[in-house]
Amino acid sequence: MKKQGLFITLEGGEGAGKSTLLDVIADVLRKSGNTVLVTREPGGTKTGEKLREILLDKTNTKITDDTELLVIFAARSQHLSEVIIPTLKQGHIVLCDRFTDASYAYQGAGRGIETNRIKVLEDWVQQGLTPDLTLLFDIDVETGLRRAGRRGESDRFEQEKLDFFEKVRQCYLQRASSETERFKIIHAGRSLEEVKQQVLTILQEHDLC
Ligand code: TMP
Repeated sequence: MKKQGLFITLEGGEGAGKSTLLDVIADVLRKSGNTVLVTREPGGTKTGEKLREILLDKTNTKITDDTELLVIFAARSQHLSEVIIPTLKQGHIVLCDRFTDASYAYQGAGRGIETNRIKVLEDWVQQGLTPDLTLLFDIDVETGLRRAGRRGESDRFEQEKLDFFEKVRQCYLQRASSETERFKIIHAGRSLEEVKQQVLTILQEHDLC
């Protein structure tokens, strides 16, 4: 059965391979007759992509943790109004590389910002809109960082220490265990074929292909 108006997000630490799988997922969903919009955060709009540049630029050494969080939610607000909500209203699938779970993981667990402050922004900006399905690409931190390192120069987040990414990973896993209906965990350390198979199984279980 063709499903419509669905908000799917992909999450995970560095080097988990979610961006590679994004194209595979979009392809599978389209072949099953769905209209799919692929987008990402931070970014997804002209304004959001400019804000992304600021966030990822490692020469921006003075950005405070609060500024970082607020800029991320500013980009998210624009993304929701300009792209996500209109696309869902048209009955299409939105496939988004990262969303608010990343703010809890990176800004909350990683930077140490209190969860309830993030929740205030989430409620303000999203007004109840949350993903229908979240695929969490989980990989052990060292393997992920090694893989990400192969991609070349690191950005402002990738420069963080091992401990930061351990906290990010644990936060994602904890969120996944507290929302088992929405979250599906992909064991991303396995071979590409095995990872693809895990994803396909989940899409089939959700009647999406
Ligand atoms: P990407 O590498 O998956 O494209 O994501 C860019 C970086 O942005 C990544 O290191 C995680 C970070 N990020 C946050 O810190 N908080 C957020 O809410 C989002 C969406 C991304």
